[in-house]
Amino acid sequence: MQFVDLGRQFEQIEQDVRRNIDAVLSSQHYIMGAQVAQLEEKLAAFSGAPYALGCSNGTDALVLLLMALGVGPGDAVFVPTFTFFSTAECVSTVGATPVFVDVDADTFNIDVVSLKAAIAATLAQGALRPRGIIPVDLFGLPADYDAIRVVADEQGLFVLEDAAQGLGGEYHGKRAGSLGDVAATSFFPAKPLGCYGDGGAVFVKDAKMAELCKSIRIHGQGTDRYDNVRLGMNGRLDTLQAAVLLAKLKVFEGEIAARNRIAALYTQALEAFIKVPRVPEGYRSVWAQYTLTAKDEGQRDTIVAQLKEKGIPVMIYYPTPLHRATAYASLGYAPGSLLVSERLAKTVFSIPMHPYLRTDEIEMITAAVKEAIR
Ligand SMILES: Cc1ncc(COP(=O)(O)O)c(C=O)c1O
Repeated sequence: MQFVDLGRQFEQIEQDVRRNIDAVLSSQHYIMGAQVAQLEEKLAAFSGAPYALGCSNGTDALVLLLMALGVGPGDAVFVPTFTFFSTAECVSTVGATPVFVDVDADTFNIDVVSLKAAIAATLAQGALRPRGIIPVDLFGLPADYDAIRVVADEQGLFVLEDAAQGLGGEYHGKRAGSLGDVAATSFFPAKPLGCYGDGGAVFVKDAKMAELCKSIRIHGQGTDRYDNVRLGMNGRLDTLQAAVLLAKLKVFEGEIAARNRIAALYTQALEAFIKVPRVPEGYRSVWAQYTLTAKDEGQRDTIVAQLKEKGIPVMIYYPTPLHRATAYASLGYAPGSLLVSERLAKTVFSIPMHPYLRTDEIEMITAAVKEAIR
């Protein structure tokens, strides 16, 4: 059994993928070929964001947006501590400082009470200027953007949606990628919409910002290709990856429905035995992960060990909240400073989740979890 079975997906889409890759090989436009623009148009339509631009990966997409927003030294950007490293790393890359915020134990997403406290503490200290918030759509579930927007507007902060895991999710009728002022996503192979290498995208709402992002994506180029008008990066999406994504986007809606069917089966089988992930009213998750919360670390470790013994792959996302990461030791966050995230890091585990899981596998997984709890 695979945690994410890309082989089964490939069986379904092989012809289309090969045809699309062949078209790139015939055109030999490996950099910014026609497939990139085709994909961008489809991604904008899919997300509801007016502009989508392909990028080299999700981390570069985040960095590119922070560069476009003019974030730099002396700026504070508020990020959840329970997320993948990139969410904070991108802030440090542009010379700004991540300020870590706790998450909600039920949704795993940024906690607005903790966010307000972090902003107030930063203002009181006076060393950093609050600039923006990067909510993460963790495990595929959008953050609470209405509540975040109120805080952002009060403080004059931008909202950068980290939709690396969230593309395909919905929040009160709107789609991930369109939920902040700007958004970034990742097409890392294991993501709900993944390519066959590294890839990502940014989503923006106005033409001026789109032009700025296009310039930064290609070394700050101006209208003349060799007149670089600002500092940028090499942040392009490969044409071959765009070709793969065009094939995958065709089956994505069906896959999202399958993920939701599988998540519902997991929840139905397990909710009486262990804490299951909660999807609030008006939200749709794309189930990048299906993550359970054990009652304590001992129970988590027992379940994980027993599942592994039975050949069921299990992952722990994430064993270290970012405020406790070695790279951020210099920021001086003490153990216990963001308690919910620290507790989650000790108690969560994720079970296999992909659209091609079979019913017998789902039954085997849920039976094994139940048995480990007994
Ligand atoms: C929440 C989050 N942000 C950012 C990233 C970075 O994406 P990438 O690996 O494509 O650079 C990832 C995925 O790896 C992620 O899960």
